[in-house]
Amino acid sequence: MKLRKEWVEKAKKNAALEAVKHVKEGFVVGLGSGSTAAYAIEEIGNRIKREGLHVLGVPTSYQAFMSAIKHRIPTTTLEEHPILNLTIDGADQIDDELNLIKGMGGALTREKIVASASKKLVIVADESKKVKCLGENNHPVPIEVLPLAAQPVMLKITEIGGKPILREGTKKVGPVITDNGNIIIDANFGLIDKPAELERKIKNISGVVETGLFIKMADIVYIGKPDSTEKIERKK
Ligand code: 5RP
Repeated sequence: MKLRKEWVEKAKKNAALEAVKHVKEGFVVGLGSGSTAAYAIEEIGNRIKREGLHVLGVPTSYQAFMSAIKHRIPTTTLEEHPILNLTIDGADQIDDELNLIKGMGGALTREKIVASASKKLVIVADESKKVKCLGENNHPVPIEVLPLAAQPVMLKITEIGGKPILREGTKKVGPVITDNGNIIIDANFGLIDKPAELERKIKNISGVVETGLFIKMADIVYIGKPDSTEKIERKK
């Protein structure tokens, strides 16, 4: 069990190290959230120290912001830099067309905004995230919702075939509150054979801020393994 955990961490780190090779002098880089993206942030910090690289980071969450500070990466905002050279982020599921489910860390809205502002989105993950079809193993789609709209949104998600659950906090009673002051609804749609269509249907519900479906956004995915890394590029 301990060995497996060590392998997974090694795999995540391998993917992150490959992704950070895309970072060049003068780049403005979107800093993703989650445990795999955290390795990429650490490596950007290492390169700043080692090579004297000049880069600016745009964090996608409070976690990424804290990590940038820890690794001495100067941060900026989309206000100052509305176009980013690159974003490196993690994912929860990745299908053959490089469509993604993201948001198990609750940072999906900022992650999608930062990714959309980037010329390139590089995803880092271990092998367990690769699936044939999004929604496999009853994996839910995280959806960020305005708190006042929780119940109507849950009803509408049921109408379009989902099973919604309000995400509860741990180490705090009540719902998870996102970095934007909203709630997260995790909706299980079973196997998602038309992810773009589902994304449109969910986005159409009033009160929905953003969904964790990232359709045709990832350009490159690095799948880390304990002793190697696989690179997959999206066919354009
Ligand atoms: C957070 C995310 C994360 O990138 C995703 O959950 C993957 O995290 P990890 O690398 O820890 O498995 O989308 O909202």
